[in-house]
Amino acid sequence: MEGIEGTGKSTHTAYLAGWLAQQGQQVVTAREPGGTPLGERLRAILLDPGLGSMPPLAEALLMFAARSASIKEVILPALERGAWVVCDRFVESSYAYQAYGRGIPIEHVQTLDRQIVGARRPDLTVVLDAPPELGLSRKADSGNRDRFEQESLQFFERARSGYLQRARAGGARFRIVDASRPLEEVRRELARIASQLLEDASG
Ligand code: TMP
Repeated sequence: MEGIEGTGKSTHTAYLAGWLAQQGQQVVTAREPGGTPLGERLRAILLDPGLGSMPPLAEALLMFAARSASIKEVILPALERGAWVVCDRFVESSYAYQAYGRGIPIEHVQTLDRQIVGARRPDLTVVLDAPPELGLSRKADSGNRDRFEQESLQFFERARSGYLQRARAGGARFRIVDASRPLEEVRRELARIASQLLEDASG
């Protein structure tokens, strides 16, 4: 599950995991950066507003360090047990934020992607899409912004456009879901997409 801030990503990740469980499927959820002892410590560093800026490539390396722990400790063991894994963010976030948002060469992200993720790809990548103004206005009310939430509207516009470009070029595995609609409508679409996924997996 991918998307910029304020698209309801964490809520929709929990909904999708719950929906799969209701269908009798084994489900594990993961989040990035985080979800492992190393990942959560790296998350605290990466989101710390007191840290200010860091070299964009260093940021990318820390994201992939957290991802490598998540793959090894959470994702692969779950897949080996035959469970579905629903990830709140995965490698598309590194393309959107570090390449399109921060401007590091996309080849750097591709190299890390090949080294850390390898040939295995998600069966489905949902890009929850909404204008950045929506998310940022919600965060504005909440006070404490993390290191990313303090970024400009332009930064999130670049990240959003990166998601959309990659989703449009990336083939059938990608689904762009309009997340600016009411929650119930988004959920219905997610349930439709997930039931197609189960049908394809059993067929
Ligand atoms: P979250 O707020 O969705 O938990 O994600 C934490 C922040 O980390 C979010 O602003 C997006 C950012 N991020 C990246 O910049 N690159 C990545 O690869 C990942 C996984 C997250």
